Amino acid sequence: MPNTILVGSQWGDEGKGKIIDVLTSQADVIVRFQGGSNAGHTVIAEGKKYVLHLIPSGILHPGKLCVIGNGVVMDPLDLLKEIDMLREQGIDLEGRIFISDRTHMVMQWHRALDSADEARRSDAKKIGTTGRGIGPAYGAKMGRTGFRVGDMLSPGFLDNVRSDTEDANKILVSMGAPELDVEEMVATYKSASDLLNKYITDSVSFINNADRDGKSILLEGAQGTMLDIDFGTYPFVTSSNPTAGGACTGSGLSPRKIDRVVGVIKCYTTRVGAGPFPTELFDEMGEQLRAVGGEFGATTGRPRRCGWFDAVVGRYSAMVNGVDFWAMTKLDVLDGMETVKICTAYERDDGKIYDVFPADLSVLSRCKPVYEEMSGWMSKTSDITRYEDLPLKARAYVERLVELIGGQLGILSVGPARETTLRLGL
Ligand code: GDP
Ligand code: IMO
Ligand code: MG
Repeated sequence: MPNTILVGSQWGDEGKGKIIDVLTSQADVIVRFQGGSNAGHTVIAEGKKYVLHLIPSGILHPGKLCVIGNGVVMDPLDLLKEIDMLREQGIDLEGRIFISDRTHMVMQWHRALDSADEARRSDAKKIGTTGRGIGPAYGAKMGRTGFRVGDMLSPGFLDNVRSDTEDANKILVSMGAPELDVEEMVATYKSASDLLNKYITDSVSFINNADRDGKSILLEGAQGTMLDIDFGTYPFVTSSNPTAGGACTGSGLSPRKIDRVVGVIKCYTTRVGAGPFPTELFDEMGEQLRAVGGEFGATTGRPRRCGWFDAVVGRYSAMVNGVDFWAMTKLDVLDGMETVKICTAYERDDGKIYDVFPADLSVLSRCKPVYEEMSGWMSKTSDITRYEDLPLKARAYVERLVELIGGQLGILSVGPARETTLRLGL
């Protein structure tokens, strides 16, 4: 398989985990390139459900090598839990997990600061973060005060943990949050560094050597385009670049080594957390999408906000990521709908039409979606194995979505399991 970047094209939870798992059979090395344990990537393999937060979703395929890239912020305690979970499920991890020495770490005080920051924001300003310490950890990285995984190997590591916990405690107290126990933190990181030591790798050389040796690299994005710190609905975003550019900075693989970009996109839209969502449904149709689609957060269990497919978002994502192929998911969730709607543009209250996603949220708040309506197919699609066998109305819907957002359909997913995947050139 050519070197491939896979990104989320909406507000996350598009089904990236499932598609990565499917594509892994043709890849050799799978690299997570950004985000942290805010991600929840679900894979259903041989009837068992796995939710992965930090380890690439390729881990369920024996023999495939999985790298946590430099662009990730990794909470060592979450990673250890995930390793235990996979071991308990009988997954052989021996020699298969590599953590970049350049990966920044989410420290316990980053989590505490994340929660304290959310708690003190007014309702209108709450982001609804996952509470996994993502913003403070990337803040420390950019502020050049972060801890990198490679630092665990240095003799001064625990002294630095001690002094940084003390510093963080002063800030936590000023925010009205409880202090962390300094010696407990030192002991926690001592034990984490002992356990994680063997996974630490010069990932930049590792990935580039794999590429030189003709191995196929699959770069796994977390979150989605509309949560990107630069391209998303700022400030209601995450603190990294989940878009295709982030795959190169987050792995050290040059843009010249990338062969194609796959955008994962749901046949409708969801969002978890706060922020603008033009096609959100507040009626029983939204309830139906949530119930049928099982739209509850894989990381926090929060109900996801649901709405119609938004082609403005799709087109924007195609542009920002340079999507070659779409992996379209969850068509089956619409099986019972008599009619389906597609947002083709936004209309501002003064009549101005937007077909590109605006940066200014105050513009967005004056916009309403322009919908076109199509007839639903009212029949089960999840046991169909060939695209040609889909009901004509379902095909018409999918083909209209692709027409509106451009690019080519590579995969159509009609259920959560590996088997419920229609391959069309990907
Ligand atoms: P990710 O964060 O992008 O990996 O997505 P999540 O795992 O958070 O959420 C996607 C959910 O949809 C998971 O529960 C998947 O098992 C499920 N899923 C993925 N593809 C399909 C599909 O085609 N149909 C249905 N019904 N469920 C799907
Ligand atoms: P996957 O990879 C959906 C959202 C949070 C919040 C915002 C900022 O499973 O698609 P953060 O904790 O990152 O500071 O929260 O981003 N968010 C996600 N929403 N899927 C995710 O990951 C998300 N990761 C973060 O809900 O609105
Ligand atoms: Mg998810």
